[in-house]
Amino acid sequence: MDHKKIKWGIIGTGKIAHTFATALKDVDNTELYAIGSRNMESAKKFAGEFNAPKAYDSYEEVAKDSSVDVIYVATPHNLHYENTMMCLNNNKNVLCEKPFGVNGKEVRGMIAKAKEKNLFLMEAMWSRFLPNIIKAKEIIESGEIGKIKLLTSYFAFQSPHGAEHRQFNKDLCGGSLLDIGIYPVFLSLFLLGKPELFTALASIGKTDVDNSISMTFKYKDQTLAVMYSSFMANADIFAEVHGEKGKIVIPNKWFTPVDIKVVKTNGEEIPVHFQFKSNGYNYEAEEVVKCLHKGKKQSDMMSWDDSLQLIDMLDAIRKESGIIYPKHDDI
Ligand SMILES: NC(=O)c1ccc[n+]([C@@H]2O[C@H](COP(=O)([O-])OP(=O)(O)OC[C@H]3O[C@@H](n4cnc5c(N)ncnc54)[C@H](OP(=O)(O)O)[C@@H]3O)[C@@H](O)[C@H]2O)c1
Repeated sequence: MDHKKIKWGIIGTGKIAHTFATALKDVDNTELYAIGSRNMESAKKFAGEFNAPKAYDSYEEVAKDSSVDVIYVATPHNLHYENTMMCLNNNKNVLCEKPFGVNGKEVRGMIAKAKEKNLFLMEAMWSRFLPNIIKAKEIIESGEIGKIKLLTSYFAFQSPHGAEHRQFNKDLCGGSLLDIGIYPVFLSLFLLGKPELFTALASIGKTDVDNSISMTFKYKDQTLAVMYSSFMANADIFAEVHGEKGKIVIPNKWFTPVDIKVVKTNGEEIPVHFQFKSNGYNYEAEEVVKCLHKGKKQSDMMSWDDSLQLIDMLDAIRKESGIIYPKHDDI
């Protein structure tokens, strides 16, 4: 079936915007059309690199361009709510980077606005759309590794950045939890659902955000999910799901396109290989294009309820571990 080409706008010209724009080259029915930056030099450089016809020196001009169908919000955490609301208010569909908002209040506001305007809105939790992560869930649901007893999931690296960088900057809502700890939390919720109980302990650094955090979820059937994130250590970034009959191993870096394997309790190893396309960010973009063509306002794969469950869990973890962003009328 012939489909209209979806014209994308991107706001923010940082690291992830480049990665996403690279992936868009491999997505059908798609054109990278407009780039918005706080300064024209960056916008023009980015537009030139990716052959985008329009470069703007403000985010708002992207949202006001009547040719743009959907905007990818690739700014720091503190701006996701403000930028998404601005796009929705200008009648634009939105794919917004994770964390969707800084807290549940912001995410609820964004969803209410999308409903009011009858627009598409989705959180760019790219790992949700990766074939390896989807396969892990299928394996669990098939019963192949039996009843799940333990999930371990980590995301840590030694950050080279200083206090001003968004990873550590409190004004930009930095800290390891919202930046990288969100991935293990997502994985536990996606594979095991909402826990009955949890614990969380954060180590708070000089800039008053969490440098590291450890979390444990406990489920009704006594299953545990053990997670950590850190900007302080180059620890392995793997995830394992242990069942009574075997385990699923998702190796370093588990949240990216990597092959996985099943290891049965008798030692038998069953590798699962994938033919990944592009850099992996294409899968979430393909879902957006599919939803727009179908006239859907939210994705079934990463629904508004999924994003609410994730942000409500993050809010609860922050409350428990003392990670507060006062400028965001916080938890
Ligand atoms: N899905 C993923 O795998 C993934 C990976 C990394 C990051 N992310 C998310 O994507 C977002 C951006 O991360 P990033 O690594 O791309 O960050 P980054 O390299 O620092 O880029 C952020 C961009 O936001 C704009 N911006 C607006 N106000 C800013 C401010 N006060 N300080 C710094 N930048 C500002 C800038 O673009 P202009 O100068 O052009 O306006 C900047 O280039 C974050 O929310 C992060 O959690 C997602």
